[in-house]
Amino acid sequence: MGLICKLPEVLTQAKAEYENLKSAPFLLGEEVGQSGNILAEGDNAQFMKLLLDGDSDRVSLEGKIQQIYIDPPFFSKANYDAVIKLQGEDGETSVKHMAYEDVWKEGMAEYLKMLAVRLYLMRDLLAKEGTIWVHLDWHGVHYVKILMDEIFGEKNFINEIVWTYKSGGSSKKHFARKHDTILVYGKTDKYYINLPKEKSYNRGLKPYRFKGVEEFQDEVGWYTMVNMKDVWSIDMVGRTSAERTGYATQKPEALLERIIAAGSREGDIVADFFCGSGTLGAAAGKLGRRWICCDEGKLAVSASMKRLIKAGQEMQILRSEDAQAEALKQPVVESFLVEASTWPSLFENKTSCTIELKEYKLKEEDVVSSDEVQETIARTTDENPLALVDYWCIDFDCHDMKFRPDTFFFRDKKGLQAVCEKELETDTLPGRTIMVKVVDIFGNVSTSVHEGKLLLTEK
Ligand SMILES: C[S@@+](CC[C@H](N)C(=O)[O-])C[C@H]1O[C@@H](n2cnc3c(N)ncnc32)[C@H](O)[C@@H]1O
Repeated sequence: MGLICKLPEVLTQAKAEYENLKSAPFLLGEEVGQSGNILAEGDNAQFMKLLLDGDSDRVSLEGKIQQIYIDPPFFSKANYDAVIKLQGEDGETSVKHMAYEDVWKEGMAEYLKMLAVRLYLMRDLLAKEGTIWVHLDWHGVHYVKILMDEIFGEKNFINEIVWTYKSGGSSKKHFARKHDTILVYGKTDKYYINLPKEKSYNRGLKPYRFKGVEEFQDEVGWYTMVNMKDVWSIDMVGRTSAERTGYATQKPEALLERIIAAGSREGDIVADFFCGSGTLGAAAGKLGRRWICCDEGKLAVSASMKRLIKAGQEMQILRSEDAQAEALKQPVVESFLVEASTWPSLFENKTSCTIELKEYKLKEEDVVSSDEVQETIARTTDENPLALVDYWCIDFDCHDMKFRPDTFFFRDKKGLQAVCEKELETDTLPGRTIMVKVVDIFGNVSTSVHEGKLLLTEK
């Protein structure tokens, strides 16, 4: 039976799965600042169900999200790597590490069902004036458009945007495939959209001098400003771009900025439930929108977190129970060594506290499989015991079982700062719990806890 005949069944099954979906808890793992932005780690269907149902910590977001952009796997039948940099004595070495899978044992029907369940949930989260932007390519876009016509309604179709780019690789058998497609639908026909203008060059690049038409000239020639067309040419993230995270299939912030500026206003909530390296969050933060991002991969979440914190964004990190158990196995003494010490400060009533990260090893269960990668890791960590650390952070006053780091050290081209010194008020130290979190280049998280009173007595 051809796939077209299976589509009704795919939709029926997806609808049943969506209707029977049970909400699962997501726990607040960390909090950076006070904003309402959320970065969640776990399966997006369960996360969306939680946003719809609400819980004791948050109200339901049903009908509250102005814009949803998703860039899900494309049904490319491939696995995607992230390129990870290791800093040894002789400079940087790159290793590849699996970022996410796009392989479907039961083929297109399985893929479409996965997506349809989630499209139903997204429809419920969207505001009446909201829009959904689904980023795909030639592999599945034609089938997904049919699903979206059913789920969102044909009459709510807005655009099929073609994003065209330059990239390496072509074939002798077909024209070079250099565009992706973004399907745009409204929740209703009363959707909000802010259409930008673009230059349209006159024929012959000469002025037309039509009455009432404003014309401009630049180094190319004469043009008028018209409503933007649905074919967008925007560069991909270049190899040496400052924006590059190394995460596979990272999309350019310029593309997301255009999408967000068109579909939302300052202060609106925008969301990406397949967020990868957090491009939507980065663009949304720049444009003053509140954002919600989710990904099931720990590498994606750690890449997003690092990128967004470095950009000065505040957020809550929520994790599914499984992801939380994995992320905060504590204390993981065998995986990293922290030395915490105190001594009298020059300032009255203060104590100097030093936290030093001494070494970091992969836990046995986190060891990556490829022999080649393992050899590179072993060699580099012999030279540099902190080579696997991507960033580390500290909460000097950890309470209510919540981790609220305010001091961060990110690896950059010069390396990683391994010592943190902080002046703390002496009489507050006995009651403090100091928590250190280390995130490695594969997205593994480890924590260690230090009691302030013990540090004082050890002195
Ligand atoms: C194409 S990538 C997104 C790239 C992203 N737009 C960026 O700029 O970095 C797709 C992402 O969807 C995530 N993903 C796939 N299935 C998921 C699911 N069920 N729940 C949450 N995330 C999922 C993958 O882990 C992957 O990071």
